[in-house]
Formats: sequence, structure tokens, C-alpha cells
Amino acid sequence: MVSDAPKRHYPVLLNEIISIITPRHGGTFIDCTFGQGNYSKKILEFSNTKVIALDRDIDSKKIADKLKNIFPNRILFKNLKFSQLSNLKLKNENIKGIVFDLGYSLLQMKNDKKGLSFNSTGELNMGLGINNFSAKDVINKLDARDIEKIFKYFGEEKEAKKIVNLIIKEREKKEIDTQLLVDIIKKAKRKKNSKTHTATKVFQALRIFVNKEITELIYGLINATRILKKDGILAVVTFHSLEDRIVKYFFKSLSEKKSFSRYQPKINQPETLFLRKQKKPIVPSEKELRENISSRSAKLRFVSKKFDSYKFETDIVEKFKFLIDIENLGDKI
Ligand SMILES: C[S@@+](CC[C@H](N)C(=O)[O-])C[C@H]1O[C@@H](n2cnc3c(N)ncnc32)[C@H](O)[C@@H]1O
Repeated sequence: MVSDAPKRHYPVLLNEIISIITPRHGGTFIDCTFGQGNYSKKILEFSNTKVIALDRDIDSKKIADKLKNIFPNRILFKNLKFSQLSNLKLKNENIKGIVFDLGYSLLQMKNDKKGLSFNSTGELNMGLGINNFSAKDVINKLDARDIEKIFKYFGEEKEAKKIVNLIIKEREKKEIDTQLLVDIIKKAKRKKNSKTHTATKVFQALRIFVNKEITELIYGLINATRILKKDGILAVVTFHSLEDRIVKYFFKSLSEKKSFSRYQPKINQPETLFLRKQKKPIVPSEKELRENISSRSAKLRFVSKKFDSYKFETDIVEKFKFLIDIENLGDKI
């Protein structure tokens, strides 16, 4: 998949994002996943716009510095995780839109030091930046039961138990690195009946776990919602079903009145926080799919905030607590 891909990162659903956040009217935007800076650059091409850009990967700073030269005083880059959005000191800034383009960029995937790919010859790392441990630690240090949970819930890997049994056996002989892990997965999953690489699910699971992607997304959404002012737009591009489920739940739960009973009129309930114009996600056009097949799993959802409010009630943390608890198993390392 990576070898056929273009050298630069192809921004996913870029035109759709721009038409939703409408930077042509000016204003300040937060790009929570700056990456190669494609979203930020497009926003800055409209006059009277400013961008606050975040990325957990310090490598993004070099690209942000280049944009700073082209658009002086209009971009501020912070090497932060987006769950830390509330650390931004925003002086009465009227944030018009906050965007998330989740996952990793093609350049990160191709960077051997990050060890994200199963073709990687570098260390089994998988950290995108600001991490507490690596995938090598997970595979070589965690208990069998914990590793199995990670593969099962973050990768939907049906053969999780079989793979983990082999891992435990092999790691007694020597430390497991990328290539050995791929070999173990291949050995455990003899029957190959899918179009994707045999190791895809396990690698996705490890990446989610190492980067605490579920916890990041949940707190990223909560903090972004706090920052937004009336009419501000929150837009998120997801790449796998777990992420999309979380975003869909969060948006839906804050945009629909609950019907506790059919006898209770919905009218008496408090006003909802979000306006959700479109329930179905936006997906890449035929043209985009032809140009960039990696965009095939992308889904874009967005809402706008109906009124200024820092406080709001959400049960998103309780709803996905079992996944957050699995990510917290990393504290044992
Ligand atoms: C798909 S790329 C974004 C690409 C960007 N929209 C572009 O078109 O150039 C995702 C980026 O988000 C960053 N990222 C992932 N999780 C993050 C988090 N929790 N906090 C901050 N940045 C994160 C990754 O390091 C990566 O650079």
C-alpha cells in the first residue's frame, strides 16, 4: 500500500473541510492535526485568517516554520497533544472552526524511526510523539491477557489469542522486533483470506494503544467543544470504525433531545448544544478515490455550536470507559 502511494501526504477531504469551515469570511481556526500543514496552508490562503496549529509530532514544526515565513504573524504552532487543547492560552480569540484529521501522515508511515509500518526495518516503536512507551514495550512486557485485549478491541483481530500465545513463547527466547512480530502473526494466521496484509489489524491495534488514540479523541472533542464560541464549527475526519463511532456518538448526543418517554414532550427539555445539519458522514468523491486510494476509509462529520457555553453535560467518557480502561493498561509498563 505504501510503495504505490505518492511521496507527499495527500490531504484527505480538503475541499469539503474548507467549504464547511468557510475561511473566506476570515477568523481564527485551530488545526489540531497539523501534519504536513495542508489544511492550515489552505486556510491561510484566505485573507484575514489566523491558524493555531497543533501536532504531537515535533517534525511538523519545520513545516509550520516554513508557513510562518509565507504568512508572517498568522500561524502559531504548538507541539501538543490535542487532548491538551485547554492548555492553549486563548485571549478572547473568536475561534471560528476547529478541525481534526485523525491518524498519521504518509511521511510518518514511511519514517523508519517511527516503526509504524510492517515493512519497517527500524525499531518497533509506533509513537507519533509525546509518548510514554513504545510498541516494543507492549509486546515484550505486558501480560498475555492485556495484549489479547488490545488486539481484540483495537484491531478486531479474531485470532488474537493464537497470536498472543506465540508472542509469549517467542519473547522468552529473544526480544521481539517488527519483522519477528510480522512473522509471528503470519505463522498464527495461516489461513489468509483478506485483501489486506495479515498484520494490518495487530499493527492498527498497537498504534491506537501506544498513542492512546481513544482517550485523545474523547478529550480532544470535549475540550474543542469548550473552546468554540457560538456558530463555531467542529469538523472531524476519521479513518476507522472505532473513531467514527466515538465522533458520531458525541455529535448525536449533544444535538438531539432525548425521548425519555413518549408521554413527555421533547419541547420541555433544555436546548441542545450542537446543530447537526447532516447526519450521514461525508466521504471522498470518486475523483479523490482515484487520486488517493488511502482515503477510502475516511469519514467527515461536523457540527456547529448553537450558543456560547463552556459547561455542558456528556456521558461520552462513561460510554467508552471500557476502551479508556484498556488504554490505561499502559500504566503498567
Ligand atoms: C493525517 S495527519 C494530518 C494531515 C494534515 N491534515 C495535512 O493535510 O497535512 C495526522 C496528524 O495528526 C497528528 N496527531 C495524531 N494524533 C494526535 C494527537 N492526539 N495530538 C496532536 N496531534 C496528533 C499526527 O502526528 C499527524 O501529523
